[in-house]
Amino acid sequence: MLAATEVDRNTKRRTAAASAGSLRSRAAGAKKLVKAALALYLYQPTESESEEYHKWYFNTLVWKKTTWMGVPCWKSTADMWNYQEILFELKPSLVIEFGTAHGGSALFYATIMRQVGQPFKVFSVDINHKRLERAARRDSDILFVESSSTVPAIGEHIEHLRSEFPGKIFAILDSDHSMNHVLAEMKLLRPLLCAGDYLIVEDSCLNGHPVLPGWGPGPYEAIEAYEHEFPQDYTHDVARENKFGWTFAPNGFLIRN
Ligand SMILES: C[S@@+](CC[C@H](N)C(=O)[O-])C[C@H]1O[C@@H](n2cnc3c(N)ncnc32)[C@H](O)[C@@H]1O
Repeated sequence: MLAATEVDRNTKRRTAAASAGSLRSRAAGAKKLVKAALALYLYQPTESESEEYHKWYFNTLVWKKTTWMGVPCWKSTADMWNYQEILFELKPSLVIEFGTAHGGSALFYATIMRQVGQPFKVFSVDINHKRLERAARRDSDILFVESSSTVPAIGEHIEHLRSEFPGKIFAILDSDHSMNHVLAEMKLLRPLLCAGDYLIVEDSCLNGHPVLPGWGPGPYEAIEAYEHEFPQDYTHDVARENKFGWTFAPNGFLIRN
């Protein structure tokens, strides 16, 4: 039998736990409401169905709930299909990814490349690998490096990998989406990519292209600035960019000249 004071204490504990739980669920509800309101606020309808779909896809955050083999992969499924087609055709020996997050996208590239059937490595860099999931981490075809993508050591690492895995490179920029950072990544890759290598600059859809107008200069503006400085470096693969009617990487499908 519990003493009266003990019963009293237990009741108080249960009441406190219940009210903390209800506070948490109220906070989660409020967060959902804010997200929905924000999506509506950012939604500016146009005549273009593909643009409407793009905005719906982005604003509902469905990309955040997309997984590859159970690991979050923050992409548009249309882009993933496009990348699969590029990887199969290009048959690169080295896939470079800046921006790992959970590792779902690195796992996706490795899965496709294993089917292609030639020796390859996926090199995936992130400034912080705390979110990286075990299912991706244990894939021996992927080399994960925790670092900022723009430090010279990353360039040296790529140079070394290129000699270890000679052949084409498929590189994808999906880390810090500020203009200056993306521009620095493009410049870092400049001496490392050869004619025929492929570069995707992701999330150039930010800052009103067509999502999140007012976000500030991002990947789209980085591509423009790079091309202003080095106009001869890349050819735009417009056919692939337009293939599925929309992409998170507008203007960002680039083939090195
Ligand atoms: C959009 S997420 C990557 C998503 C992932 N590629 C996918 O498709 O699932 C961006 C990642 O870039 C990383 N990041 C931010 N700044 C960085 C930097 N300076 N260098 C490398 N990675 C960075 C973040 O830690 C984050 O995990």
